[in-house]
Amino acid sequence: MNGFKPPLPLRSDTPAAWADAALADPEALLSDHAHCEKKAALTALNMAQHLSDMPRASVLLARLAEEELNHYRRVLEALQTFGWKLRPDHGNAYAQALHKLASKGLLDQLLIAALIEARSCERLGLLERAWAVQPAPGPKSWLAFLLELEHCEAGHAQVYRSLAEERFGAAAATRMDWWLDREVEVIGALPWRSAVH
Ligand SMILES: [Fe+2]
Ligand SMILES: [Fe+2]
Repeated sequence: MNGFKPPLPLRSDTPAAWADAALADPEALLSDHAHCEKKAALTALNMAQHLSDMPRASVLLARLAEEELNHYRRVLEALQTFGWKLRPDHGNAYAQALHKLASKGLLDQLLIAALIEARSCERLGLLERAWAVQPAPGPKSWLAFLLELEHCEAGHAQVYRSLAEERFGAAAATRMDWWLDREVEVIGALPWRSAVH
């Protein structure tokens, strides 16, 4: 991962061939990612509501939401730059499958958010490297943006994990250990498509 520490010890590596499959339809990939960034901003605001008694959480999550909204705008702008259209949101089977397994309220919501950010980080890194060798990779700034996203989502995973630990103590690590195995099962069962998950 470009020499920086992965945000969570995910228990499976996405094969490099995944990025080529995801890039089969880059317009669909970017469209899906725009929807993901918007949902990530909404998730952060929703979490802030649940953690409004923790001043540190309010500030961290407001900043996080701001970053996601910034990503959302820039992915929309990239679609325009490439001359592509935002396609309809077909939903995110990965996030939906994780949420189906949740049973511990806010603790699980925080840990799922951390896992989604961490897996996004891993896959954005793969995409950045695969996109760089495409015949028409687009403007240089686009690859720099993908790299920025990769690093940013790593930071977001750490924010969600640290907030879970602050609010739930040792139970957060125990539950994360359980979630890391579930995440491998969920991501491994999903077909590859032109989307980050
Ligand atoms: Fe983002
Ligand atoms: Fe994020």
